[in-house]
Amino acid sequence: MTTYRSRILGLGAYVPPRVVTNHELATLMETTHEWIVERTGIEERRWVDEGEGGAEMAAKASREAIERAGLQPTDIDLIIYATLSPDHNFPGSAVFTQRLLGLKEIPCLDIRQQCTGFLYGLSIADAFIRTGQYKHVLLIGSEVHSTGLDLTTRGRDVSVLFGDGAGAAVIGRATDEAHVVLSTHLHADGADAEILWTDRPGSRHHPRITAADLEAGAHYPKMEGRKVFKHAVTRMPQVMMEGMIVNGLKLDDIDMLIPHQANLRINQMVARMIGLPEDRMHNNIQKYGNTTAASIPLCMHEAVQLGKIQPGNLVCLVAFGAGLTWASVFLRY
Ligand code: UT7
Repeated sequence: MTTYRSRILGLGAYVPPRVVTNHELATLMETTHEWIVERTGIEERRWVDEGEGGAEMAAKASREAIERAGLQPTDIDLIIYATLSPDHNFPGSAVFTQRLLGLKEIPCLDIRQQCTGFLYGLSIADAFIRTGQYKHVLLIGSEVHSTGLDLTTRGRDVSVLFGDGAGAAVIGRATDEAHVVLSTHLHADGADAEILWTDRPGSRHHPRITAADLEAGAHYPKMEGRKVFKHAVTRMPQVMMEGMIVNGLKLDDIDMLIPHQANLRINQMVARMIGLPEDRMHNNIQKYGNTTAASIPLCMHEAVQLGKIQPGNLVCLVAFGAGLTWASVFLRY
């Protein structure tokens, strides 16, 4: 049986035009620009305007990724869509993006591994390419957080963190060793699932949501920030080491680290813990906040545009998120 390897053929990104600064948030809740910058590094984020959804943002990012891959939308034979904020309860958002791209009948797969979603999706795309089942996979991470945040002081620990945006990649067959996905490493542990979650509406509640739940804010994301922080700074270095061992890599071999953008302090700590100089890590959380499944493609796309990632460079992607889930991907761009 012929087996293939995969590579990233093109990247795309889209963020909504509306900029929301920390100062604007401070008019809605008891917080300050200084607190947010000191604890997280975030200076501003983007929010969708009314009427714009995740699937529309995804379609915009996808068109760019497909064009950069030198392909037409009709060349895509599978869509994988990672999000924790689907446009609707069901069906998943991938079919809406498929429709916007003018595509018909190709399979659409929605996955939900939160901040780790894009890396889980990359692993799935890689597996499909390896078997030869699909030739061009469109992988999307797209999130609309702004419509689901508690914008009062009660929700300030979470609401200042998140932003809206979309990133996309076209994954296709590698033709040489210089541009190839080397390995993917996925993990999850449900023991602490409730330290970062949104409980309602949920099908295990009957009814799924009540007026009292709405009053109590049970439909807003909840996080035990310190616990999540500790997990993040433990798991991300671990899963990077795992990939380095599998590929026989030294730290010096990594040209650029693209970590999930949850908190600049987390990423600085991870870089320090593994001994990677900060100039070999790219962050853009300052401008976009945490865009969950969109954060890695948004950050990688920017690093490529800035020339920080060159063709053939060895890139490590690493993420951590709700579930809890964590993963790394090593590739030659
Ligand atoms: O993407 C998924 C993964 N997510 C993460 O990795 C996030 C991980 N966690 C974090 O990044 C940090 O825990 C946070 C940035 C969320 C919070 O920082 P912290 O240093 O852990 O603060 P804290 O939650 O311990 O809160 C410290 C104080 C509290 O006040 P008291 O009890 O000391 O009086 C909070 O009420 O800061 C208060 N606080 C705020 N103050 C101003 C919490 N949120 C805010 C806020 N503005 N937005």
